[in-house]
Amino acid sequence: MLPLKIDKLQVTNFRNLEEVVIHFSPGINCIFGDNGNGKTNILEAIYFLILRKSFRKNTGFPQILSIDGEKAEVLFSSVFTSEGSEDLLSLTGKVSSDGSSWYQNGKSTNRKLKAGVVFINPFDSQGFHNSASSRRTWVDDHLGQLDTKYKSELNRYQKSLRFRNKLLSKKPNEFRKQINAIDQDLAPLSCYLTMARLNFLEQLKPFIQRAFFDLFSENHHLEIMLDAKVMIQTPETYLELAQKNQEKDEILGYTHHGVHKDDYTLLFDGLNSFDYCSLGQQKMSYLSLLFAYIELFRYKFNSFPIVLLDDVSGELDKLRWRRLVDYLKAKKFQILITTANDRFKDELETITGSRRILVDGGSIQLF
Ligand SMILES: Nc1ncnc2c1ncn2[C@@H]1O[C@H](COP(=O)(O)OP(=O)(O)OP(=O)(O)O)[C@@H](O)[C@H]1O
Ligand SMILES: [Mg+2]
Repeated sequence: MLPLKIDKLQVTNFRNLEEVVIHFSPGINCIFGDNGNGKTNILEAIYFLILRKSFRKNTGFPQILSIDGEKAEVLFSSVFTSEGSEDLLSLTGKVSSDGSSWYQNGKSTNRKLKAGVVFINPFDSQGFHNSASSRRTWVDDHLGQLDTKYKSELNRYQKSLRFRNKLLSKKPNEFRKQINAIDQDLAPLSCYLTMARLNFLEQLKPFIQRAFFDLFSENHHLEIMLDAKVMIQTPETYLELAQKNQEKDEILGYTHHGVHKDDYTLLFDGLNSFDYCSLGQQKMSYLSLLFAYIELFRYKFNSFPIVLLDDVSGELDKLRWRRLVDYLKAKKFQILITTANDRFKDELETITGSRRILVDGGSIQLF
């Protein structure tokens, strides 16, 4: 990963951003504007530019294309700065129903930009606390960004699992033989994924504890644990589990066991934060987890990701807002923070040297 910061974004036909040019500060950027004016769309455009996908589920070209645009294409033109270097990097792209084309410093490329980006969404804390699938997605996405091998092994696992499930639901001739063959692939993949997840959680440990204290000046023990029904650390464990569950899998028509069912528990002073914590404490724990991840990212790549913080003021009181703002002020990463909340905006406006961007009906005004 490169220590990149976004300096300029020009985007055409991206949702309600029909034609905007935005200049960013390498530090804190506050994006203000009333509901529905395009604040989140700016964050989504940057996320899309870097990762070529949206942070919203089931969102592709038809959703991001402006319904009012003249041409059925979304255009990106951007400039990034690199810490410790005078060089600028330009990234431009065109996305249409035929696909997309991207250029780095004028040269056509299929490769994504080597920059990290973390998006923090107002609803994620509740999703993370309420649904196992959100927790799985959180770990898979974040670990996948740190470790490309994890991402590719997870893809292989999911592909084999889909095939296994198809066999279980359709039950063609000799399907058991094919399932046995797939299990020979799934066994080592399951061990790899389990070990990678355990490692990731172990690496997060020292950062998560400190992030909570640094963010909110409160000493609580925070930890995230892998919560697997059966911890698959050897291929034999997988094969035994598969055999034991074969009959039930055949009845159900899908694979109801394995690392795709792993869950995670966020422990707050040793208690499950979902059962024990108030909504504000859940949000504080969730934010600590994300900022711990950002520190781990820095530890691993020696550079920070670009942090997109979409209106996180809900559930937190004024004191916590102030602490969050103090935390952000002390950090060296580039951050884009949005809010429609006037009181939180007042808090953000106390940050000296930040860039303030006002979004009004999809247009940008600096003030
Ligand atoms: N494909 C599209 N084409 C044009 N406009 C769109 C498209 N998709 C979404 N919008 C518009 O974008 C606006 C939403 O923008 P966004 O989510 O960025 O608002 P916001 O400023 O973050 O608001 P809030 O404070 O409520 O979160 C809505 O007005 C919506 O109608
Ligand atoms: Mg929004």
